[in-house]
Amino acid sequence: MDLDAFAWLLTDEGQPVLAAAVGLGATVSDDPLAAHAALRRTAPGIPPERLAVALSQAALRRAAVPKFGDLAARMYFTPEGLEQATRLSVATHRAARVRAFDARSVVDLGCGVGGDLVALATAGITTAGVDLDPERVAVATANLAALGLGGAVQVADATTLDHSGFDVAFADPARRTARGRVFSTDHWSPPWPFVESLLARDACVKAAPGIPHALVPDGVEAEWVSDHGEVKEAALWAGRLATCVRRATVIGDGGLATITDEDDPGAPVRPVGGFLYEPDGAVVRAGLVTAVAAGVDGGLVDEHLAYVTSDASFRTPFARGYEVLEELPYREKALRAALRERNVGRLTIKKRGVDVVPDQLRKRLALSGDEEAVIVLTRVAGEGTCLLVRPF
Ligand SMILES: C[S@@+](CC[C@H](N)C(=O)[O-])C[C@H]1O[C@@H](n2cnc3c(N)ncnc32)[C@H](O)[C@@H]1O
Repeated sequence: MDLDAFAWLLTDEGQPVLAAAVGLGATVSDDPLAAHAALRRTAPGIPPERLAVALSQAALRRAAVPKFGDLAARMYFTPEGLEQATRLSVATHRAARVRAFDARSVVDLGCGVGGDLVALATAGITTAGVDLDPERVAVATANLAALGLGGAVQVADATTLDHSGFDVAFADPARRTARGRVFSTDHWSPPWPFVESLLARDACVKAAPGIPHALVPDGVEAEWVSDHGEVKEAALWAGRLATCVRRATVIGDGGLATITDEDDPGAPVRPVGGFLYEPDGAVVRAGLVTAVAAGVDGGLVDEHLAYVTSDASFRTPFARGYEVLEELPYREKALRAALRERNVGRLTIKKRGVDVVPDQLRKRLALSGDEEAVIVLTRVAGEGTCLLVRPF
């Protein structure tokens, strides 16, 4: 991104050009050449690099709606900065936790385009952010201003900064390399030893959901957070912000629900009952499947599998529930016959602990009936088992 062009975009001359680019709608992403030509006609005499920055911001705002909702229309992004930014729902939850701790000030050590900064500032916390990348600093600064929020952002290396004056330190290290997403801490920036040093104070560090439990230092809480069923992160809460060992927080249409290792009395393996529960990914990552089982008066289908079963139907934010209708044959030929007999055409296949590729199986079953069905393929008492279920 051309930093001068971005600075111009924020001026009284740039803003109407951005508005005109936004007005081009989907064309900005679908047909950039046509969008460029159209914007040139609307804003004659504006240099091409300025038109380009307006068009790219318009396209990025469209792309940002799933993460930032209505706020996207007022925010600024870089492509990578948007990809790495924490979605508003998750950042808002984090900010609420920090606020509940009564923190007055937070420093964001690698703030990117400001996804977390915006949520922290919105929660009324005094925020400061640093980033190595001048583009992201410019964008994060613009975001705070565009949303009428306070806070300071500057270019700095987080690893050399004295953060002791802030109540809470936050870091969301970049975790990607040119080869894509990596789960090893080797490529974290700021690096893992710096992150580890932060975990010795009141701090929060955002990590990838795949972080091994063994990497979480003693006394640090790991919170897996999902949004509408997708696990987004593992947040490590350190110092006085740690309130348990492991936590799963699920964000959905019904709001937010959270469960911890302290809610986990354990649960037995038991025969399949009338109801089956598929725990949310955050629960599975947090190792809290037995907590969910206990919450529905149930047990596990198999010691090593994340399916819960119970004789009772419960609505729980921590799992998707199914009524078990009947057991069907596990062997493919007999299963095909059973499904055809039931006139099944559209089949959802859920599986855990068995070596089945649902798409391939669905193709081989070649069903053509009018009914819709859901089957669960799993192991029960060591045996491959197929259950016909109905979501509730
Ligand atoms: C994953 S992004 C942060 C995203 C941010 N939480 C958000 O929601 O927008 C990580 C950021 O850390 C920055 N960074 C990496 N190493 C850094 C360092 N040593 N000092 C300051 N910033 C650093 C990167 O430039 C990148 O913008």
